[in-house]
Amino acid sequence: MDWLTLSGRPALVVGAGGLGGASAVALAAQGAPVVLVDLDEERLESVSRAAKDAGGSVRTIAADLRSARRCREVVAEASGLAGVPQIFVHAVGRNVRRPVLELGDEDWRAIVELNLSTAYWLGRAVGALMVEAGYGRMTFVSSVSGLLAHADHAAYAATKGGLNQLLRVMAREWAARGVTVNAVAPGYIETGLTRDHLDRDGNREALESLVPARRLGVPEEIADAVTFLSSDRARFITGQVLYVDGGRVLV
Ligand SMILES: NC(=O)c1ccc[n+]([C@@H]2O[C@H](COP(=O)([O-])OP(=O)(O)OC[C@H]3O[C@@H](n4cnc5c(N)ncnc54)[C@H](O)[C@@H]3O)[C@@H](O)[C@H]2O)c1
Repeated sequence: MDWLTLSGRPALVVGAGGLGGASAVALAAQGAPVVLVDLDEERLESVSRAAKDAGGSVRTIAADLRSARRCREVVAEASGLAGVPQIFVHAVGRNVRRPVLELGDEDWRAIVELNLSTAYWLGRAVGALMVEAGYGRMTFVSSVSGLLAHADHAAYAATKGGLNQLLRVMAREWAARGVTVNAVAPGYIETGLTRDHLDRDGNREALESLVPARRLGVPEEIADAVTFLSSDRARFITGQVLYVDGGRVLV
C-alpha cells in the first residue's frame, strides 16, 4: 500500500460510471480521500458503498458538468470537502454511433461538450490549484478511438484525439511545476457506455476477435493504470497516452 503513496492525497474523480467508479474505489482503497462527481445520484451512492466495503472513503457531489461555471464550482466544492485535489481523474464521456453523413449537429455538439470541453474546463480549474501547490497528478480517460479510425465514431474519435493533444499541452506547460498530466486509453470494456452495443448482433464476439488478448477488459484493469499514474511511482511520466487494451491498437 505504501508503495503507491496515495494515503491522505485528496482525489477528485469525475464520472461514477464503469471506469470512473472503479477508479474512485481503487484510489480510495489506497487511502486517498476521494470526492466523486456525477449527474446520477444512484451511481454515486453505489460507488460510495463499494469504496466503503474496500476500506476507503468517497464523498460525493451530484452535478451536471456541462458548463465552465459548474466545473469551477465543483472543483471549489471538492476542495472544501477533502482538500485541494492532488489527484484528478476525468472519466465522463458519451458516444453516438452513426456514420458522418447521419450524425446530427446536436449529437456533435453534445459529444464535444461532454468529452472534450469538460476536460478543458475541469483540467484548467484543477490545474490552477495544482500549479499553485506545486504538485498534481492528472489522468484523463481517452480511448483507442483517439488513434484508430473506427467507422461511426467521428465525433467520439475527434474528441479523444483532441483530448490527447489537450493533455500534452497541459503536461508541457505544467511539467516544471510538479504536475503530471496523462491519459489511459481503454480498449473495449463492458460498462454502461458499451453494454447495449455489446449485447446486439454479435458485436461482442466481433470485437473480441479484434483484440490480440482475445477478450474484453474489465473496469478494474483501467483503474489499476489510473492508480499507478496517480501515484508518485509515475512522477517522471507526463504527456503520455497509456493504452490499456489487450493489444487492440497493435493490429
Ligand atoms: N467502456 C469502454 O469500453 C470505454 C472505452 C474507451 C474509453 N472509454 C471512456 O471512459 C470514460 C468513462 O466511460 P464509462 O465506460 O465509465 O461510461 P459510463 O457510461 O459507465 O459512465 C459515464 C458517466 O458519466 C456520467 N455523466 C454523463 N453526463 C454527465 C454530465 N453532464 N455531468 C456529470 N456526469 C455525467 C454518467 O452519469 C455516467 O455515470 C469515457 O470518457 C469513455 O469515453 C470507455
